[in-house]
Amino acid sequence: MAKFLTSEQELAAITASTTDPKQMRIDEVADELALLAAAVAYHDRLYHGADDPVISDAAYDELVRRNRDLEALFPSLVRADSPSARIGTPMDGSFSKIRHARPMLSLSNGFSDDDITEFVARVRRFLSLNHSDELALTAEPKIDGLSLSLRYEGGELMQAATRGDGSEGEDVTANIMQVDAIPKQLAGTPPAILEVRGEIYMDREDFLALNEAQQAGGGKLFANPRNAAAGSLRQKDASVTSGRKLRFFAYSMGECSAEIAGTHWDFLATLTSFGFAVNTLSARCLSVAELLDTYKAIGDARATLSYDIDGVVYKVDRHDYQSRLGQVARAPRWALAHKFPAEQAQTIIRAIDIQVGRTGALTPVARLEPITVGGVVVSNATLHNEDEINRKDIRIGDTVVIQRAGDVIPQIVRVIKDHRPTDSTEYKFPELCPVCGADAIRPEGEAVRRCTNGVSCDAQRLEWLKHFVSRDAFDIEGLGARQIEQFTELGWVALPADIFRLHERQEEIATLDGFGEISIRNLMTSIETRRTIGFERFIYALGIRQVGQATARILALHYDSLDKLLTAIAPGADSEAAMAELVEIDQVGALMASDIITFFLAQANRDMVIDLASEVTIIPPDRPADNSPVSGKTIVFTGTLAGISRAEAKARAESLGAKVSGSVSAKTDFLVAGADAGSKARKAGELGVTVLDKNAWLALIDK
Ligand code: IVH
Repeated sequence: MAKFLTSEQELAAITASTTDPKQMRIDEVADELALLAAAVAYHDRLYHGADDPVISDAAYDELVRRNRDLEALFPSLVRADSPSARIGTPMDGSFSKIRHARPMLSLSNGFSDDDITEFVARVRRFLSLNHSDELALTAEPKIDGLSLSLRYEGGELMQAATRGDGSEGEDVTANIMQVDAIPKQLAGTPPAILEVRGEIYMDREDFLALNEAQQAGGGKLFANPRNAAAGSLRQKDASVTSGRKLRFFAYSMGECSAEIAGTHWDFLATLTSFGFAVNTLSARCLSVAELLDTYKAIGDARATLSYDIDGVVYKVDRHDYQSRLGQVARAPRWALAHKFPAEQAQTIIRAIDIQVGRTGALTPVARLEPITVGGVVVSNATLHNEDEINRKDIRIGDTVVIQRAGDVIPQIVRVIKDHRPTDSTEYKFPELCPVCGADAIRPEGEAVRRCTNGVSCDAQRLEWLKHFVSRDAFDIEGLGARQIEQFTELGWVALPADIFRLHERQEEIATLDGFGEISIRNLMTSIETRRTIGFERFIYALGIRQVGQATARILALHYDSLDKLLTAIAPGADSEAAMAELVEIDQVGALMASDIITFFLAQANRDMVIDLASEVTIIPPDRPADNSPVSGKTIVFTGTLAGISRAEAKARAESLGAKVSGSVSAKTDFLVAGADAGSKARKAGELGVTVLDKNAWLALIDK
């Protein structure tokens, strides 16, 4: 047996030997263990890094098992780099998780100059600024890479995490330790705890060189520098990361034990003094005009930069303003990404297919002659709906202009009519669901045609289950689209609760292609870890029409427990009262309320939810500031509060755990009445609701 392996082909060809270990000499065992370690590490690299495994899970499991058997008989031969030492870390492609001390937010997007004007006006309104009050904003290039959070304690790099879902990321510390561009020890006098966030990316030139090397070695090619950076970071074997040229720009802050700057601009300067690279194209601006000038300047420089950028990020400079502005859903109110226009290309539509989504919506998809746009091969584009096809007069065989911006699904901009084939015919939108054959109905005044078969339609059920396990819902790793499809086809999973009963089918699962001992064990572990779930995720996972993450959270906070929700909206209960209660919740409109009620009144849904609840433990939502004097109280604002905008007052109340409602009722705890309070103040008087003026309100919340 060869002691040293030179080629990947040799590594790929290694299979688990069946020679009885008791018949082997000790040097043969040592050789075999060396080989197994190299082979398993090689497959791990392929599996976790390039997403392109070359052996089945079962063959991989055999290697691991053989290694374990040999080690059991010859414990003195266990190697430092033994695969068994790594089994503790999940082998399903994930790294261990790190909960961010402060969530990693994303950014709202703007596209036009008007969007920027409106953003700045909104910020000014929120802060109640006068015309003459200065509002400085920074403008920085938006780097097209991956965001990363670096935690320093006593100036020493302790932890590095990817963004993940914003609350929880992946622990990539070992890999980041190999990246020269990231300081391991800060210069100057940093605070005891400092989390620095920024973008890890790869220069275009390094990306091209990497792809050349990958090609020469028969490895997988990366589509663009961003994917190359992601692939290089998410390596189980940190030595692979070490060979990749990753770079980093620092641009924001997570947890910080001491105030190090009063403005973002000063913060960036401080980061430089600690030893970070900060983008030098950034500018501090005092007006919309200056922001737009900077946008143009950065856009002009774009082609000459060594790295990819996809827009410009504007941030309110003053940190005290930033904290007053806070955030909506998952993006700060104090920042905006001004995206560069989408890249365009021409191609031909080969076919139009209909996809049936989770809520039954029939979405037409154009199958395109594959074409590269902005570094990514595009072969599908969304056509949105029936009207869109008619409006743009799109036909099969047409030459079209398509565009793609960032991670957005490619879109069709227009048809080049001159290139239309003479025999083309108009596309006729189906009136039956192409998957189950049921009627697909388009209600008067709506753009979307929907299959009427609910989850009896295979496509709807499948999409619904995929949504259920997706990242923002139950987030069950190892249970992706493919596995869900397999399990539903076999009839093992028809409803969400069935997922939590899959442990009873482990033996059957083991008979399926692509499932080995380790992947089953990992799947069972990830299902078990999700048996405890936050109420907001639980609601979001149900896939109720119109109920996204933000609404799910609002509902969770409002109803507090599944019992209360199911009691408030129940077949026997007063549905008008339930409706009234829902629309009174801020941000829940009548249409959304009616979808929510329809969902919870249907007996099949109630059974499904109760069945699911019997398998899991639901934890009540984290209430902001549980101990504040207004937590749990219902508050209505009316009239103008000098110096505080309505939006800020509301956001502040909510951050203290209060519910803000739009109208006064017997359930209102406080009416905060500013100048010119009208009918609401009268109504509060009639109902005996406590009325507070601005000062009384501020005194109450400052308690
Ligand atoms: S600030 C709370 N600044 O864009 C604000 N983000 O689309 C956090 N990004 O997740 C982000 N360049 O990965 C900020 N100069 C920059 C950025 C930047 C790139 C990325 C970041 C973020 C994403 C949002």
